[in-house]
Amino acid sequence: MSEFAKKNRRLIQSGGIFLLCYFGMLFIVFLMMIINDVHGWHLYIRNNFSSILSLLVSVFFLFGIIYFYYFFEDRSFLLKTRNVLLIFSLIYVSVIICYIFGRFIHLYARPFAMFALLVLFLLNRRQALFLNFIFAFLLFVIDLFTNNYAVASVNDEIYSSLMLSFVSGTFAVFLAGETKTRGALLLTGVMITIPSLIVVLLFKIPEIATDWIDYVSAAGFRVLGCVLASVLTLAFLPVFETLFNRLTVFRLRELTSTNAPLLVRLNKEAPGTFNHSLIVAQLAETCAVAIGENAELARAAAYYHDVGKLRQPDCFTENQTGYNLHDEITPELSADIIRSHTRDGYDFLVQSRMPQIIADVAREHHGTLPIKYFYNKAIKYSGDADLKDFSYLGPIPQTKIAAIVMISDAAEAATRAAADRSPEKVERTCRAIIEERMDLGQFDECDITMRELTVIKSTLVEALSGIHHHRVEYPAIRFNREKKAVKTEKKEE
Ligand SMILES: [Fe+2]
Ligand SMILES: [Fe+2]
Repeated sequence: MSEFAKKNRRLIQSGGIFLLCYFGMLFIVFLMMIINDVHGWHLYIRNNFSSILSLLVSVFFLFGIIYFYYFFEDRSFLLKTRNVLLIFSLIYVSVIICYIFGRFIHLYARPFAMFALLVLFLLNRRQALFLNFIFAFLLFVIDLFTNNYAVASVNDEIYSSLMLSFVSGTFAVFLAGETKTRGALLLTGVMITIPSLIVVLLFKIPEIATDWIDYVSAAGFRVLGCVLASVLTLAFLPVFETLFNRLTVFRLRELTSTNAPLLVRLNKEAPGTFNHSLIVAQLAETCAVAIGENAELARAAAYYHDVGKLRQPDCFTENQTGYNLHDEITPELSADIIRSHTRDGYDFLVQSRMPQIIADVAREHHGTLPIKYFYNKAIKYSGDADLKDFSYLGPIPQTKIAAIVMISDAAEAATRAAADRSPEKVERTCRAIIEERMDLGQFDECDITMRELTVIKSTLVEALSGIHHHRVEYPAIRFNREKKAVKTEKKEE
């Protein structure tokens, strides 16, 4: 089957999943209607047939809009079933939570912004803004066409809650865009109370003079709803992170903490590799900042790039103390052990349910480069060797982050080994590393530009000169204590 036909088939498949999710949503709404009126729900459906039909069609259109948004904006996103399931799980959970709070506490106590915040951290800002609009409409049509709030006095509040969900969600996305700590996320919840209270005030203006108590209670419930949104986001994020293996700023923080279990193990079992990874992480982070890539992600990926060495730590120079196994085995076997650390690292990270991109960087960080040392050794011994048997298995870097880690890794190792670490020498080394990888087509599948490679080179030179700076040699002063003691004794005499 051609690639085009395969893609089309997968697109139709994801359309089918959308349809299933649509029926899933209808089932949830149906359950709500039963809970609202256990004895009379069938009467409500019979007497309000047009409302029910409007609900079916409106939800269908809203889900259809989501499908076509991704179809035209990000088709590759649609092709992965896990992505579609993530979106609908978020919608289901948020609708159910909003229903519980709205039904049993107050319409304004609903944590509207929770959905937008979850999408922001698990996907991105653009999708959070778009999906928040759809979510606001979805809640609105559920409120309007079911028996959730089929009381005349509440009807006005349904319209104001549409505005509230727009405003709370959108402001939350803007305010939490740069949030990196849990405390800052809680603060976002507090901040979105301001626009929310303004909306409540606008809708309550006609009654405020006669019934100000009603306004105060509505405002109180709204503050509760806003704070709840950030608290519930914090509670649900780890669940979705684990279930869908998504990477969020909070998870990145945890992964780059030196208390992370895998890093503790690396430090214990392969201390040389651990120290090397720390420096590569520092370099990769600086390079990522310089070219506008995700610095936290670069740092995390670099921390874990060599975890495959945990399988046989003593086979790698940085962990050896005297004894070298490679002196006793054939160069072919040596090369095989060395090159397998990329695959081992990938398998290990996937098994440990680490984010896919971090596992990918571990597999790609040597691309298909040859292991020159053992290749030359083999040539020396047998006069002939196949370069393929002495090359890493790839794939070559697929992302800019993988390319950054590849260059930083090589630059760190080369400067550590060099006797001369003057800026001129470091500059020559970095230039040679980048040029060699370009010649061997290692950057052909990631969209890194020439300008970015030049920026990475100068960033590395600056950073490495700082790390491996020359220390001032301390003069060896010898204190002759005995002589001094003799002199003092003489004085005393
Ligand atoms: Fe490596
Ligand atoms: Fe490395």
